[in-house]
Amino acid sequence: MTAFELIRAFAHDATVGIVVTDPMIEPPGPIIRYANAAFGRLVGRELDDIIGLSPRFMQGKQTRRETLDAFHRALATGERFHGYLANYRGDGTKYRAEIDCRPLRAANGGIENFVSFEREVLRRLGRPAPSGAGRYEPVSVSNDVLTGVLAVLGVFKHT
Ligand SMILES: Cc1cc2nc3c(=O)[nH]c(=O)nc-3n(C[C@H](O)[C@H](O)[C@H](O)COP(=O)(O)O)c2cc1C
Repeated sequence: MTAFELIRAFAHDATVGIVVTDPMIEPPGPIIRYANAAFGRLVGRELDDIIGLSPRFMQGKQTRRETLDAFHRALATGERFHGYLANYRGDGTKYRAEIDCRPLRAANGGIENFVSFEREVLRRLGRPAPSGAGRYEPVSVSNDVLTGVLAVLGVFKHT
């Protein structure tokens, strides 16, 4: 079994969107190698249509360039990117995605893939905390088998 197969098995029925790309950062990369059903629902597309694309296909007019630059820097330095982006579904509707993206490293430290956990969030009313934590809330929260695993990994956690 490969690490990739293990991820697929865990991700398959997860309610959080999970997408895995190759490690190439510059266009045409990163290229989507795997996405789970929840990711397909989040972005409003068939999985067959997104495998082989770069995640940039979700971007549009209101996707902030500064946030994408921060995303790019995190990928280039092998750091986690945790942030919020305006993205667009297949039917053109906009949604706000919370994105927690990390490198997957081989034993020798080299980056083999990137994995990203993604969910839709809505802006909360009222004044946000200075860290940004609490500014957005997930559209839905569930208690599937992966919930505990994601908590252990600190997914969506503000540092
Ligand atoms: C695993 C993974 C998931 C990504 N998911 C998204 C996403 O959901 N929405 C988005 O706008 N960008 C996403 N990106 C970021 C873009 O692919 C790209 O890296 C970003 O636009 C910054 O690079 P650029 O400045 O070359 O465009 C993702 C990247 C990776 C590696």
